[in-house]
Amino acid sequence: MKISKLAQSLGQSATLKLNEVANALKAEGKPVIHLGGGEPVEAIPYGAAEAAHEMLNGGFVRYTPSSGTVALKNEIIKYTEKFYGIKPEKGNIVVSSGAKQAIFNFLVSALDREDEVIIPVPYWVSYPEMVKLAHGEPVLVRPAKGLLATVSDIKSAVTNKTKVIMLNSPCNPSGQVFPEETIAGLVEFCERNDIYLLMDDIYNRLVYDGLKAPSAFNYAKRPLNDSVIVSINGVSKTFSMTGFRIGWSIASEEITKAMIKVQAQVSSCPSALSQTAAAGALAEQGDFVEKLRQGLEKKRDLLVAELSKLKKIKLAKPQGTFYSFADFSAYDPDSRKLSAMLLEKALVAAVPGIEFGMEGHLRLSFCASAENIAEGITRIRKTLDGE
Ligand SMILES: Cc1ncc(COP(=O)(O)O)c(C=O)c1O
Repeated sequence: MKISKLAQSLGQSATLKLNEVANALKAEGKPVIHLGGGEPVEAIPYGAAEAAHEMLNGGFVRYTPSSGTVALKNEIIKYTEKFYGIKPEKGNIVVSSGAKQAIFNFLVSALDREDEVIIPVPYWVSYPEMVKLAHGEPVLVRPAKGLLATVSDIKSAVTNKTKVIMLNSPCNPSGQVFPEETIAGLVEFCERNDIYLLMDDIYNRLVYDGLKAPSAFNYAKRPLNDSVIVSINGVSKTFSMTGFRIGWSIASEEITKAMIKVQAQVSSCPSALSQTAAAGALAEQGDFVEKLRQGLEKKRDLLVAELSKLKKIKLAKPQGTFYSFADFSAYDPDSRKLSAMLLEKALVAAVPGIEFGMEGHLRLSFCASAENIAEGITRIRKTLDGE
């Protein structure tokens, strides 16, 4: 039987591929250090565990409304008001099985065949593939300089087929935060031209050095129900709850209704147990996120200090997320080759920059333990600088 052209056109997840090789080496007893990860190593918030226990003990775990439970939506409304300064209604929210499903629901709801989606380089590996799955055309835009595309870089890629501009700030993989002028400029441009602005805010509270990731809603002239902005968030990264698979979208009622229809036909609803746990995490009044953020900031500093000992890299200090994206091209311009060599010789897993659309770079995560970060970068240095 033949596999569809669409399925054939999809790339394999770079990180999963790397995991496979790293795990095979580990199985041979090799002490591999994984600096390619994309999730915190910290335990989940107490409130999440407690809420999930209580639900399980009650014995009733059933389907929920497709768009999510009222209890979780109420927590999302409070959360959005606190961290975005806008108050959505329940009709502006879809709870999904991870931010990833929220993005996919949106793309399927917004795109007609061959509509174009502008994606600044470097981008999260899944964006172009998700656009293809929704029958759209990914249009990749390289920044004229540095790691952040500007409004004029992005505008130069706009055509009459442009339907969506996708932005992830702070950005996986670069760790950079798009400046206020870019967000404000894009909101103004998208509102004027009726182009959707998808803001993937999944790392928006994991920012360092007193910086804030500007929210697109701050610059919007249109009210939420007439908004071009679709904001994505979730508990995976900020609350260390990747395995629960809970994300959500905040958008106009019109696109939200379409997204609910898509989700209802694909997966009915997100897991009831996970929604309860997510509501427990959001309701908790403690300092879980701030502690996680502070711990990551320390690990960011450690990684930057260790990397700066390498003789030939160029690194823009990460301002957010838990990723660094250094230019290793002076060692080897082919990032896949370099990554394979480091895994073999240094036993350190690092994701090749080409997987994020930018050759010559490696993505090294600082969500690993401090010991692994220090040891991993030392091994890379010894392998590349020979000392
Ligand atoms: C930029 C970005 N968006 C979305 C996601 C997916 O989040 P979730 O686990 O909630 O699906 C990730 C996960 O790596 C990510 O890096």
